[in-house]
Amino acid sequence: MTAQTTASSNTGPSDGQGALRLGNATGLTCRECGNTVELGPHYACSECFGPLEVGYDFPRLTRADIEAGPQNIWRYAALLPVPEDIATRRTTEPGFTRLIRADGLAAELGMRRLWIKDDSGNPTHSFKDRVVAVALAAATEMGFKVLACPSTGNLANAVAAAAARAGIRSVVMVPANLEEQKILTTAVYGGTFVTVDGNYDDVNRLASELAGEHEDWAFVNVNVRPYYAEGSKTLGFEIAEQLGWRLPDQIVVPVASGAQLVKIDKGFSEFAELGLVESKPWKVFGAQATGCSPVSEAFTKGWDVVRPVKPDTIAKSLAIGNPADGPYVLDVVRRTGGAVADVSDEEVVDSMRLLARAQGVFGETAGGVTVGVLRKLLASGQLDPDAETVIINSGDGLKTLSAVADSVTVPTAIKPTLEAFQAQY
Ligand SMILES: Cc1ncc(COP(=O)(O)O)c(C=O)c1O
Ligand SMILES: [Zn+2]
Repeated sequence: MTAQTTASSNTGPSDGQGALRLGNATGLTCRECGNTVELGPHYACSECFGPLEVGYDFPRLTRADIEAGPQNIWRYAALLPVPEDIATRRTTEPGFTRLIRADGLAAELGMRRLWIKDDSGNPTHSFKDRVVAVALAAATEMGFKVLACPSTGNLANAVAAAAARAGIRSVVMVPANLEEQKILTTAVYGGTFVTVDGNYDDVNRLASELAGEHEDWAFVNVNVRPYYAEGSKTLGFEIAEQLGWRLPDQIVVPVASGAQLVKIDKGFSEFAELGLVESKPWKVFGAQATGCSPVSEAFTKGWDVVRPVKPDTIAKSLAIGNPADGPYVLDVVRRTGGAVADVSDEEVVDSMRLLARAQGVFGETAGGVTVGVLRKLLASGQLDPDAETVIINSGDGLKTLSAVADSVTVPTAIKPTLEAFQAQY
């Protein structure tokens, strides 16, 4: 295991020397000034402090090469910053979740062709298993000994589970007021679990300070963020492959930090550049809850910068008031001709119930946000009801039960007799 010398003030373990085995990744490039540094535990540009992104030298890759791979994200290992033998290592093997043809929901909304990418089917029931698996693979290669994160809930589940699977220590930090389901489903894995009296942005700040103190801790979304974020490209890859090696016309993605949306777009671009799908235009749309909608506000007001907010919404998984990738979401959405919009908590609950009733999918509050924004942008004419559309259900409704608890009717028990049944139903 190795860690290369840092090209910036970033920290990282240093227990060896030599080239990192991170597949076809070649370096890290600043998204702001284009400065390139060698692969390693860097996340901020040494020149301008801009965020770094993984660059590659991709080999020729065919659809058959990918189809011959495992039924999880490692089928795309050649397009990720991970060691070539990653599929044989101890990981949670996320991905290849269902792409559901959503005819029921489409009929309700007057749409022609609608698909749901149902990422609640991942090992800890959210898309976060993807990003964590990639972060863990890169972090291990760089010599980190501990997997850590600040989280709005789902990432905590994914980090605690991935570390348990790999047999390493986890340190997971969340706001104390999260949904009980997300707290319990993190605690069960037995790592170090810290609940903080504060919101996510407070927890994130504390994590950044700790990352400076503990050089052998990989905070997946802080000091190994360039690698972590790449994991969300696999959502884009899978959607294209599952559509029969085609790109959709429109996609609606929930936005917290914004990394997922930006990387789905990057996944589509890479597939087109590699000739794995026919190149065509697509539009990317972002979804936020009104109680935490800094990116939607910036989009609507035509700003290039995102003004931080103090979150207040039931969509706790999306409650990031100061989103790291907010400006890049604006870039993607504006470049592709999409939009960012937000919906109220009432609409979130209503949309969670619509998704369940019309399509048989129980998504978490983030899914309600996405379906709510889908409805809103159809009504405003910004989304085309006739264009092929994919929406992301990024998490499981079982983890946010309290959101719907007051609005669904739980029947009173009847006696186990025919008369009792007939009297009531
Ligand atoms: C269920 C769910 N969906 C979407 C997101 C947003 O992801 P990102 O921070 O990459 O925008 C999160 C983030 O925590 C999440 O938990
Ligand atoms: Zn820079």
